[in-house]
Amino acid sequence: MKKKVIAIHASSRKKNTYHLLENLKEELAAYDIDVEILCLSELDIGRCVGCEACLRSGTCHLKDDVDAVMRRIPEYDGIILSSPVYMNNVSGMLKTFLDRTCRWVHRPELTGIPVLFVASTAGSGLRHTLNYLEDAALQWGAIPAGKIGRSAGSRAKRLEKKEYIRFVEYLNMDMHRYKPGMKELITFEIKKILAEKVLTRDKEYWVEKQWLNKHYYFEASIDPVKKAAASFFYRFLSGKIKSVEE
Ligand SMILES: Cc1cc2nc3c(=O)[nH]c(=O)nc-3n(C[C@H](O)[C@H](O)[C@H](O)COP(=O)(O)O)c2cc1C
Repeated sequence: MKKKVIAIHASSRKKNTYHLLENLKEELAAYDIDVEILCLSELDIGRCVGCEACLRSGTCHLKDDVDAVMRRIPEYDGIILSSPVYMNNVSGMLKTFLDRTCRWVHRPELTGIPVLFVASTAGSGLRHTLNYLEDAALQWGAIPAGKIGRSAGSRAKRLEKKEYIRFVEYLNMDMHRYKPGMKELITFEIKKILAEKVLTRDKEYWVEKQWLNKHYYFEASIDPVKKAAASFFYRFLSGKIKSVEE
């Protein structure tokens, strides 16, 4: 069945990063994957005012395009998260959007969705930016599925299959076969502790999702050694953190 992917574009211009997304769209079409490019520059995205209402009530007071976009994104089979490198990191446009997705950090809604990371730079900051994009996706509960980067020197280089094939595989894979890495397992345990002990509203969500007694968001092929290490980490950290209800 055709897979639907949303590519988040975060530059004001349709140039280097956008060309990479267009190129990816062409390549992925051969695998029956449809890529829709969402230009953040064409949306009304206000800056987070820091009130934390989204964390408490699940809704944001700002009336702009973010809520509608956040409701659409979980409907896609996959996400391409992209940015030009600005000051050795993601563009302010993307960061402004990511700040607004903060409620997904505590109540993940993108679990099991693979994310491919794309960045372009003149020369510096590529690895750092791609790692930051990956970290944002991990916070959302999504699945890291590869990184594509280009600098001025490699801009003309065609996309190679090895750069996006993991994304294609994950889009078509039975997720019970997915092997979460240590970083994903630890991130899950930290969120679980926060939900259990710190943010009561999140606890309701985690109970509803039946995650509180799980090792990951869904039944996956977790390596037993990693599972034991993450469980040890959970017990250790949980013992250190006092419940707000105590
Ligand atoms: C505000 C700004 C900051 C930038 N910062 C960096 C940087 O830190 N390192 C770098 O190598 N290139 C930097 N660049 C260059 C861009 O990363 C590069 O041109 C990128 O490919 C632009 O992508 P775009 O064509 O999709 O907008 C910067 C460009 C701008 C406009």
